[in-house]
Amino acid sequence: MKVGIIGAGRIGKVHGESITNHIQDASVAAMADPYWTEDSRKWAKNMGIPAYDDYHDILKDPSIDAVLICSSTQTHAPISIEAIRAGKNVFCEKPISHDLSEIKAVIKELEKSRVKYQVGFNRRFDHNFRAIYNAVAGGQVGDIQIVKITSRDPDTPPIEYVKVSGGIFMDMMIHDFDMVRYLTASDVEEVYVNGAVLIDPKIGEAGDVDTAIVTMKLSNGALAVIDNSRRAVYGYDQRAEVFVSKGQVSVTNDCPSNAVLSTANGVVAEKPLHFFLERYMQAYATEVGEFLDAIKNDKQVPVSVNDGLQAVLIAKAADKSLAEHRPVKLSEIKF
Ligand SMILES: NC(=O)c1ccc[n+]([C@@H]2O[C@H](COP(=O)([O-])OP(=O)(O)OC[C@H]3O[C@@H](n4cnc5c(N)ncnc54)[C@H](O)[C@@H]3O)[C@@H](O)[C@H]2O)c1
Repeated sequence: MKVGIIGAGRIGKVHGESITNHIQDASVAAMADPYWTEDSRKWAKNMGIPAYDDYHDILKDPSIDAVLICSSTQTHAPISIEAIRAGKNVFCEKPISHDLSEIKAVIKELEKSRVKYQVGFNRRFDHNFRAIYNAVAGGQVGDIQIVKITSRDPDTPPIEYVKVSGGIFMDMMIHDFDMVRYLTASDVEEVYVNGAVLIDPKIGEAGDVDTAIVTMKLSNGALAVIDNSRRAVYGYDQRAEVFVSKGQVSVTNDCPSNAVLSTANGVVAEKPLHFFLERYMQAYATEVGEFLDAIKNDKQVPVSVNDGLQAVLIAKAADKSLAEHRPVKLSEIKF
């Protein structure tokens, strides 16, 4: 299977390496980016991946079965539509778009097509979160009552990035919104947000918050709470717990090792793996592997365009709740 990658930034390279190094029967036929940096060009050369300036050259190549859209967010929807029209199977990084009318246009295009379309919610493929999912799926451990997710970055992004990121809910917590839907197999009905600027006043000046707690009511009756911080000084903090009628299932962070140093002064363990590139490499490879498997064996993709849409709707409801200081029902967000 031949894959084209659009966007040669951080995540484009992650997927390029996963496919080249970990996925059998698949190769990266080309990568396209109009703004190649010298380092990225060197990287592509070392990987043996042809570097194009224009992604249309990927879309025009009949030997390419699938494209991975890894370019900046505002390009996702227009490129998705062109790729679907070109008959390519599409893996699109999150979020599909900040703009609901653009997502609607992608869905309309998919309705006219038979191509597969998967959205990049990589955490569904993480070994820890999948273990929770497997434990609660099918209800063997009883009914889900509470979901708790802690998701904190090791440090704030550059302020220029914050300004175009779409805000903490669309950029960062969107993964956690999807995780709540994944772990509970339930939609979200209502969202209530408390947000604050506790780390960097520049984030507040850019109109965003750097710390947020979101509580949610789900359509299966369960409750969920997510906390996000843009800076956890001890590293990338990615934990989850599902409390069920017969007990609870929880996962903690992955560390470089589980060594614990115990001395007369105290007990010291390693910090969590630093950030997403360290923490989720296995998940990135598995998500693309499952996407390619769905194409090869004509199966349903594991993360659908509706999953992509729902997470954006929740992010919009969270923005509204923060602005209006009240619980917001998902039904208030017009699609
Ligand atoms: N799933 C995840 O965990 C995850 C992690 C990081 C980023 N992302 C998403 O992936 C996307 C890219 O993020 P990144 O961190 O790699 O950003 P980045 O800035 O490192 O890379 C984006 C690349 O897209 C290129 N680009 C811009 N317009 C283009 C076009 N028209 N055609 C082709 N390339 C174009 C840029 O030149 C840049 O090289 C974002 O939407 C982001 O939300 C997802």
